[in-house]
Amino acid sequence: LSCTAVVPAAGAGKRMASAIPKQYLTLAGKTVLEHTIERLLAHGAIERVVVAVSPEDQWFDSLPLVRDERVVRVQGGRERADSVLNALAAVSSEYVLVHDAARPCLAMQDLDALLAAASQPRGAILACRVRDTMKRGDGRGAIAASVPRDELWHALTPQCFDTQALRRALAEALAQGQAVTDEASAMELAGVHPLLVEGRADNIKITRPEDLALAGFFLQQLNE
Ligand code: CTP
Ligand code: MG
Repeated sequence: LSCTAVVPAAGAGKRMASAIPKQYLTLAGKTVLEHTIERLLAHGAIERVVVAVSPEDQWFDSLPLVRDERVVRVQGGRERADSVLNALAAVSSEYVLVHDAARPCLAMQDLDALLAAASQPRGAILACRVRDTMKRGDGRGAIAASVPRDELWHALTPQCFDTQALRRALAEALAQGQAVTDEASAMELAGVHPLLVEGRADNIKITRPEDLALAGFFLQQLNE
């Protein structure tokens, strides 16, 4: 199975609150975005990486990998789903894999496991089980109930789908004004239930300041 990867990298990183967007912070001598793209390109099944970049971006064009003919820049959008939908216009492969720019610690075995499930018509996502006991709040600061933990997963990326099916599902979700924070949510709204492929918990999304050092540690372990 060969496919194109889409990397949404047009976010402002508000929760990170760094001087430059988090995808351009440096880990072990390279930007987070370069780590992310290089890990995807290191897999033989991934032929091209389409990166959605903000129109205001001042950093992407100075990365050495923009000279790699497998890397394509497209315009990002207002929400993550807009960025992904824009990028899909530049995808011609049957299957597409979407992976957050802010997730540089992707293990090759996880990518293998996901791609092995990718030709499923319903699509597949990497996910990991929650560890803590889960509570639903009552909205007033107290516990309403405990939520059975064995049903709950963290949705990670990459997420892999039939390109046409994902394009339709995202366009429909956006037209309905639905908030979709991952591709699987858009598929779910279309009545499709993608597979959960259990992946590593260290495939973290750099979201808050404390995540950067953690990602640096996990990257170092992956490269050993
Ligand atoms: N993203 C994007 N286009 C947007 C918003 C987000 O391409 N309009 C990308 C981000 O660059 C990131 C990924 O989607 O790689 C996951 O989003 P998130 O972690 O929420 O990043 P930000 O939106 O940048 O961060 P924040 O929500 O804290 O502002
Ligand atoms: Mg965001």
